Amino acid sequence: MTRAIYPGSFDPITMGHLDVIKRASEIVDELIVGVLNNNAKSPLFSVEERVKMIEDTVNFLPNVKVMAFEGLSVDFAESQDAKMLVRGLRAVTDFEYELQMSLTNRKINPNIDTIFFNTSLEYAYLSSSTVKEMAYFGADISECVPDFLVDTIYQKVKERR
Ligand code: PNS
Repeated sequence: MTRAIYPGSFDPITMGHLDVIKRASEIVDELIVGVLNNNAKSPLFSVEERVKMIEDTVNFLPNVKVMAFEGLSVDFAESQDAKMLVRGLRAVTDFEYELQMSLTNRKINPNIDTIFFNTSLEYAYLSSSTVKEMAYFGADISECVPDFLVDTIYQKVKERR
């Protein structure tokens, strides 16, 4: 049984994340989306809200689970008996950070490897931060996130103003 963890902040989940989740879920038996509970990053959405938003997004994928975690991604992977971490790579700019993180993770736990998915071209520009900024300034985010989350995100950004 191959089980992989897709760790991230997902603040909020984007169509780019969903693209990676769908493709990763096709090559593993079980994919766990690990939502980092890290208040130091002052997320827009609480970890509970992020978990719920992802659960509602991936409910059509039977082998995908969503869980919050704290601490190191590799420790979370080990606790779930997963041997792989999944990450998406959008552009060269992601590469340095992702390489450093995957090398560090393998140093900490050599039993866990990272596999990368290149993000589909249509989502290569997309990040949670740009979605938040677009929403903050009232730009159209309907192509960036699942439809049912559009209003929730505008609302949350408005509350934070
Ligand atoms: O979506 P993000 O914010 O780019 O995800 C980053 C994340 C959560 C994968 C990364 O910050 C992480 O793994 N954090 C947990 C601590 C950890 O394992 N750090 C890597 C080794 S120092």
